[in-house]
Amino acid sequence: MAAVKFIFLAFFAITSSLCFAFDPSPLQDFCVADLTSQVLVNGFVCKNPATVTPEDFFLSGFNEVADTMNPLGTNITTASVFQLPGLNTLGLTLVRIDYAPGGVNPPHTHPRATEIIVVLEGTIYAGFVSSSPNDTLYSKVLSAGDVFVFPQGLTHFNMNYGHSNAVALVAFNSQNPGAIIDANNLFGATPPINDYLLAKSFQLSKETINELQAKTWPNPAVKANNVFGVDIL
Ligand SMILES: *[C@@H]1O[C@H](CO)[C@@H](O)[C@H](O)[C@H]1NC(C)=O
Ligand SMILES: *[C@@H]1O[C@H](CO)[C@@H](O)[C@H](O)[C@H]1NC(C)=O
Repeated sequence: MAAVKFIFLAFFAITSSLCFAFDPSPLQDFCVADLTSQVLVNGFVCKNPATVTPEDFFLSGFNEVADTMNPLGTNITTASVFQLPGLNTLGLTLVRIDYAPGGVNPPHTHPRATEIIVVLEGTIYAGFVSSSPNDTLYSKVLSAGDVFVFPQGLTHFNMNYGHSNAVALVAFNSQNPGAIIDANNLFGATPPINDYLLAKSFQLSKETINELQAKTWPNPAVKANNVFGVDIL
């Protein structure tokens, strides 16, 4: 009997920790984010339901081609809880990616979400790398209608592999997936990471590291009009 109880408890512990690896389940119909509240909780506190309107669940413009005239040649348009407060506690984000020919969405990870991408137009090279020590690359060249998955937390990337513009739609199982863009994180950190440590880690000279640290590292998801200054993916 004790053994059965132990197995049950062990199973419960494992399954609950799996649940907590993703956004928690809602406890009510909706909890529209009050993005201005000074109360800090895991997510956002709810607006008074009496003041909730259809606008809290609505966003337009996902049909618009975004400007890709920037160093990466990509532009990411986001519908996370920051743009769509009705997503608070619902565990979802939607993103549109526009790519100029050769446009790159550089290697990055999402600490809080798995990502699924569907190509609407063009040809996209997409891949992710499994964790160390295997470091195995799983990549595909995708055409319109093709779908690919980037598992939670793994380094991944995508780029326009064709000669015309490309468009993709992406979904995440978090209202705020977060983005760690590898180059920005390592070479653009403020204050800078110790250059001796980076030189040794990357088997490069300190001069090369200093050159990398002196660069501006663009974020394709940053929008000037975002109330938070940064568009947290
Ligand atoms: C992305 O596109 C929007 C709309 O066209 C534009 O306002 C914004 O500056 C663009 N961002 C980048 C990084 O090019
Ligand atoms: C990872 O690498 C080890 C050693 O080469 C191998 O035994 C194992 O099957 C690999 N795992 C995966 C998931 O590829």
